[in-house]
Amino acid sequence: MNAPTMQGLNLNAPSHVKNARLIAWVADMAALCKPDNIYWCDGSKEEYDRLCQQLVDAGTFTKLNPAKRPGSFLACSDPTDVARVEDRTYICSAAKEDAGPTNNWMAPAEMRATLQPLFDGCMKGRTMYVVPFSMGPLGSPIAHVGIELSDSPYVAVNMKIMTRMGKAVYDVLGVDGDFVPCVHTVGAPLAAGQADVKWPCNKTKYIVHYPETREIWSYGSGYGGNALLGKKCFALRIASTMGRDQGWLAEHMLILGVSNPEGQKYHVAAAFPSACGKTNFSMLVPPDAFDGWKVTTIGDDIAWIKPQSDGSLRAINPEAGYFGVAPGTNTLTNPNCMASLDKDVIFTNVALTDDGDVWWEGMEKDTGGLPAHLIDWQGNDWTPEIAKQTGAKAAHPNARFTVAATNNPALDPAWDDPKGVKIDAFIFGGRRSTTVPLVTEARNWTEGVYMAATMGSETTAAAAGQQGVVRRDPFAMLPFMGYNMSDYFQHWLSLGEKLAASGATLPRIYTTNWFRKDEAGKFVWPGYGENMRVLKWMIDRLEGKATGEETMFGVAPAYAEINWTGLDFSAAQFNTVTSIDKAAWAEELKLHTTHFEQLAYHLPQALLDTKAAIEKRLAA
Ligand code: OXD
Ligand code: MN
Repeated sequence: MNAPTMQGLNLNAPSHVKNARLIAWVADMAALCKPDNIYWCDGSKEEYDRLCQQLVDAGTFTKLNPAKRPGSFLACSDPTDVARVEDRTYICSAAKEDAGPTNNWMAPAEMRATLQPLFDGCMKGRTMYVVPFSMGPLGSPIAHVGIELSDSPYVAVNMKIMTRMGKAVYDVLGVDGDFVPCVHTVGAPLAAGQADVKWPCNKTKYIVHYPETREIWSYGSGYGGNALLGKKCFALRIASTMGRDQGWLAEHMLILGVSNPEGQKYHVAAAFPSACGKTNFSMLVPPDAFDGWKVTTIGDDIAWIKPQSDGSLRAINPEAGYFGVAPGTNTLTNPNCMASLDKDVIFTNVALTDDGDVWWEGMEKDTGGLPAHLIDWQGNDWTPEIAKQTGAKAAHPNARFTVAATNNPALDPAWDDPKGVKIDAFIFGGRRSTTVPLVTEARNWTEGVYMAATMGSETTAAAAGQQGVVRRDPFAMLPFMGYNMSDYFQHWLSLGEKLAASGATLPRIYTTNWFRKDEAGKFVWPGYGENMRVLKWMIDRLEGKATGEETMFGVAPAYAEINWTGLDFSAAQFNTVTSIDKAAWAEELKLHTTHFEQLAYHLPQALLDTKAAIEKRLAA
């Protein structure tokens, strides 16, 4: 044992931990947070089982019926701690301009002074878990290591599923390897003898990133992206700044493999804002007409993409599990996802059935009706009558499952390959009821960056109370960007130039919109597995088999270029989802102007030039 003592607290560092910076940092954090104990996670199954049992004993977890859902648990959070808190999320770069207009910013010294008293003694009465994790396959040249210190055993077990977590990380780290230090507290110290609650948290919340020193400090929440710091905080916000500095990309993208009947395989990385079918697309089941075609999942949420010496881009999924939204998921919308959830799952904020299983809105499509009785996510009785009278949801709309990628029947064999996979195409998908066509291909990299930079998502009534408002969500990165958005656009443009200069064929860039509505306000495109028809057109383009048609906004498929076998979708319906309405586009471009005005600082001229070219085509 390597055992420096901090104010009477034994660090208990195991002998395989040899990284001096790590040991010193844990000692410093222990001195600040003052936990009762320090526990160094080893990532073993025995440890996972023990911590889950501890969470059951504490009342945080309910063990589900092993006959229905083996190895699975339900956690229900405090009703005030149910989602990422974007308004409490800060990028504390030295210069305000480096955080840019899309982020909350505070000067690092001011933020440190704010956090110091909050963290002082914040873990009293609790254990500090030292959670070593690799984002990406251990030792991959694309992967990076983080260490999370957390006073939440819920975080420790979720991190075991979501990352490569455990002892082997220390071998990668060695004596002087680099890591991203992540400190997390629920902000609920316990006085001597004070009983704990099931879901400790604090109404004050701070999710803080210091990009220059690559640190993450999270206070007050135990939920999802606020607390599982490998995900949005590290893999997107901090990693995006690492990518800017080191010449690579950290993206809010799924990665999928798509193979044709001849066995030719392509890899696609796709960015969609929340509630735009990202998990479904990453696990897509092709319709019957696509016999021999196969879609496999490399990642469902985040991609780290590094340029290679041959000018190709190789991508890994930095995560090892899925933290997905449960409501709406069923065997019709996502059969592979449902199969992934058969066993060894941590559910958060879904409902409990009378026979010890889980339920959420959308599952009635599988079971042919609503259950007669449930305990809802807040612990109340739920019946269809109560729901009708009060509108009470059985599951919180942001209820989640945490499950290992290895549970996914469509998992790609290369999902854990340290080399990553070669990206052939990027997709940027918005959510627009009008204006943006079903699919277009950018004529070149810059036009693709323009499409991604101006991507929009219409808010739904459930999410924002104001239906139909378009929120610009460039690259689906708005809540996850670690630096100035316009500098990020430039980073993409510069990378494209560099790859092109090396003589490489750049990945094609597509934009999609599955959400166009007809005059009656109904979605026209069937979506889900039928998106394969669009994906196939993209592959045809890559293979030079589809000519497409030039439009004002990229190259679009002709009706006859899409395989319609097994789907009744008329040319008129196709026109409804693909037509380009000149008046709507004139309005749309005004919105692009406003968007670019907000991002004026460092906005690349190339994007303004691209906009001018679109305007010219519109006027022609
Ligand atoms: C997520 C998100 O949880 O994008 O993946 O919010
Ligand atoms: Mn996401």
